[in-house]
Amino acid sequence: MQDIIEQLEQKRALAKLGGGLKRIESQHQKGKLTARERIEVLLDDGSFEEWDIFVEHRCTDFGMQDKAIPGDGVVIGYGTINGRLVFVYSQDFTVFGGSLSEAHAEKICKVMDQAMKVGAPVIGISDSGGARIQEGVASLGGYAEVFQRNVMASGVIPQMSLIMGPCAGGAVYSPAITDFIFMVEDSSYMFVTGPDVVRTVTHEEVTAEDLGGAATHTQKSGVADLAFENDVQALLMTRRFFNFLPSSNREGAPYRETVETLDEPEMSLDTLIPSNPNLPYDMKELILKIVDEGDFFELKPDYAKNIIVGFGRMKGSTVGFVANQPMVLAGCLDINASIKGARFVRFCDAFNIPVITLIDVPGFMPGTSQEYGGIITHGAKLLYAYAECTVPKVTLITRKAYGGAYDVMASKHLRGDVNLAWPSAEIAVMGPKGAVEIIFREDAKDPEKLEQRTEEYRSKFATPFVAGRRGYIDDVIFPHNTRKRLCRSLAMLQNKDLENPWKKHGNIPL
Ligand code: HXC
Repeated sequence: MQDIIEQLEQKRALAKLGGGLKRIESQHQKGKLTARERIEVLLDDGSFEEWDIFVEHRCTDFGMQDKAIPGDGVVIGYGTINGRLVFVYSQDFTVFGGSLSEAHAEKICKVMDQAMKVGAPVIGISDSGGARIQEGVASLGGYAEVFQRNVMASGVIPQMSLIMGPCAGGAVYSPAITDFIFMVEDSSYMFVTGPDVVRTVTHEEVTAEDLGGAATHTQKSGVADLAFENDVQALLMTRRFFNFLPSSNREGAPYRETVETLDEPEMSLDTLIPSNPNLPYDMKELILKIVDEGDFFELKPDYAKNIIVGFGRMKGSTVGFVANQPMVLAGCLDINASIKGARFVRFCDAFNIPVITLIDVPGFMPGTSQEYGGIITHGAKLLYAYAECTVPKVTLITRKAYGGAYDVMASKHLRGDVNLAWPSAEIAVMGPKGAVEIIFREDAKDPEKLEQRTEEYRSKFATPFVAGRRGYIDDVIFPHNTRKRLCRSLAMLQNKDLENPWKKHGNIPL
């Protein structure tokens, strides 16, 4: 027996070396951790249970029969983050460049299948040269098996992708289907075709970093949610982020006790809105002042900055925040902001997370580039997401809520549960000046009359009270009481029960 145990230990030790010390060293020299080191940082100490450490590839072409490495380039299993179950797979670049073979894909599918059965999230760590070239179509089939599972798991269990090395070709589509993508600066990239193919096809000269690095995807494409300086930071932030998420669509998000009471008014909010309605202010300040312990986890902070999305807690429970940002493009909704907001609202709705919407929006962004780019279709995504959403929806209008954007942003008419406004709210078809120039075209030619008419319109319509008289706004509240009023609304909505009519699935304007 002792012999067998020793053999087992040796086999495990060999498997844990992956592609060998030289390749591990090279991984470290690139500033990257190994697949196993990443899992150690990500999971609670000693909680990792590994599966399939002895799995090997089955390829016999190109001399591969003599080159099997136990584990075959991916470490899989389960463990806990702050005591909560999570399944992980972590590609091992030291083994055939982390490339995906048929056996490697089967390992990933194994954890995904198990995660679906028990209702726990999956975190995938990508560091791979893509399809195992020696295996050809068997590898492509493996990818498709993973994609199919990503789609079936979407909306059932949270799925996260950490890109910590190359992720190229069709391989990018698995992370793309998952709910969140975090990248690492300077050592990770994602693209459908690399710089060489780009040069051949479009004659563009571009580096891998410019084409698909962390900055590109967090600022230009919006593919990734966040980028971090190094592996350790990314993994630790993933642990923090995980605490906001429920384990599956059958559960609520974890509750975290807060010391903050409801009753302390935040007097500084009474002066957040500048007296000139055209001056900006920072909507993030409002979020940070109402959320438990000022702890707000923002997603996509560098992309479509005119809308803010992220998670916080209100009296201990996770809430998704969607907020216009008047500091950027005056908070207008454009194509990118609409898509960013819509995808976030749908995640919250799928996973029982209430949505608080903070509104200061002058409307949808005008212009040819927006119209040619399909703002009609993309803006409709946000509308659709809010309208189909059945989780508690609490809305606060701080200042402008004009036109279609008023309707779209969780209005009463789209089944907003509690719709509040600050006294500074202006709820109207459009801003006073634009309105007067249309309905009093003649008067608008005379600056004095224009001013008079504008003032008349402002005092009559640019307030929350017209909407309040119709019950479209449930109450006009003091800004300093915002946290209390929002928390009470959420508490009232705790047992909200609303179902959409049965359908196979809707047809969101994609
Ligand atoms: C088999 C691979 C591999 C692959 C890398 N390796 N990619 N083995 N299949 N796809 C091996 C290398 O042979 C090498 O083995 C080791 O991994 C490390 O690779 P290096 O090239 O030395 O590393 P580096 O210089 O860091 O470059 C990394 C890389 C490069 C940029 C990822 O390896 C590369 O371009 N690989 C090919 C990428 C690719 O074209 N993949 C197919 C994409 S199409 P040794 O033994 O020397 O250490 C695709 C389709 C998916 O993936 C479709 C899904 C639907």
